[in-house]
Amino acid sequence: MHIPHFGSGGRAAAFAVALACAALAAAAQPALRTVPDTMAQRMQACTPCHGQQGRSSPVGYLPRIAGKPAGYLVNQLKNFRDGSRYSAAMSRLVEFMSDDYLREIGDYFAALDLPYPPPPVPTERVGVLRRGENLATRGDPGRQVPACTQCHGYALTGALPALPGLLGLPADYVIGQLGAWKTGSRRAAAPDCMGEIARRLSADDVRAVAVWLASRPVPPGARPAAQPDLPLPLECGSGVR
Ligand code: HEC
Ligand code: HEC
Repeated sequence: MHIPHFGSGGRAAAFAVALACAALAAAAQPALRTVPDTMAQRMQACTPCHGQQGRSSPVGYLPRIAGKPAGYLVNQLKNFRDGSRYSAAMSRLVEFMSDDYLREIGDYFAALDLPYPPPPVPTERVGVLRRGENLATRGDPGRQVPACTQCHGYALTGALPALPGLLGLPADYVIGQLGAWKTGSRRAAAPDCMGEIARRLSADDVRAVAVWLASRPVPPGARPAAQPDLPLPLECGSGVR
């Protein structure tokens, strides 16, 4: 076997290399220490779209994720991963994430309790807003549309373990989601009560309820209720677990 050996000059060179390596390692270490591997750090990947700490903004299209029930967030991340909800931005991102990791993400964002910015001043006619409020708080019994408050809570702040609140969402996002349920590109576990409700709403209803919801301030410290107000007016395969 050939064993390479250094002459005395070679030994000095090897020593110099070893020193340089040690210096590099020492220089690299503090840099590693300033970027700890925490959930907060890893979830920086979400901030370009969902805002700092998942706060989002009341205008535009992006949903806030901070403070939503953990079970709801996990259901959505699994839906994106498994294809029952589609989003160009989200579906690829979670493609290879395990259930356990998605649960960690859900717990992380659910635990954040951040103040919401005030809602934008609505530009819709009063009649449209009134129609939206009626649908949200009273429903339309003639067309078997239950009030949104019957499931999403009297204060519309949702309920544990998996019913989302409906305040603090941009109107365009709500319109987009109800449209996705109508066309089937968003589906929740069967029986999919939201799909049923979306199909009972006209385009004008959807717009009215979305702009009214987006015009409502989120009360400071608003949290999801401890449990839904059972029984729900329609059976839902998600939301209650
Ligand atoms: C490139 C932009 C982008 C990035 C980055 C991104 N998201 Fe999203 N996210 C979106 C969009 C757009 C939607 C709405 C999708 C739709 O139309 O259904 C969304 C929806 C969601 C939802 C569903 C919210 C709800 O109310 O139903 C969750 C949960 C979510 N994202 C979590 C995350 C997490 C966690 C990360 C980081 C690991 C992340 N997102 C990174 C764009 C992004
Ligand atoms: C019978 C119960 C029930 C009623 C009534 C109901 N919802 Fe829902 N809603 C749910 C459930 C359950 C979910 C969660 C679905 C999932 O897991 O994807 C949901 C989710 C949603 C979402 C998605 C939120 C997000 O962040 O993406 C929107 C928007 C929504 N509902 C709007 C409405 C509106 C508007 C009304 C009233 C017209 C309404 N809902 C009435 C049960 C209900």
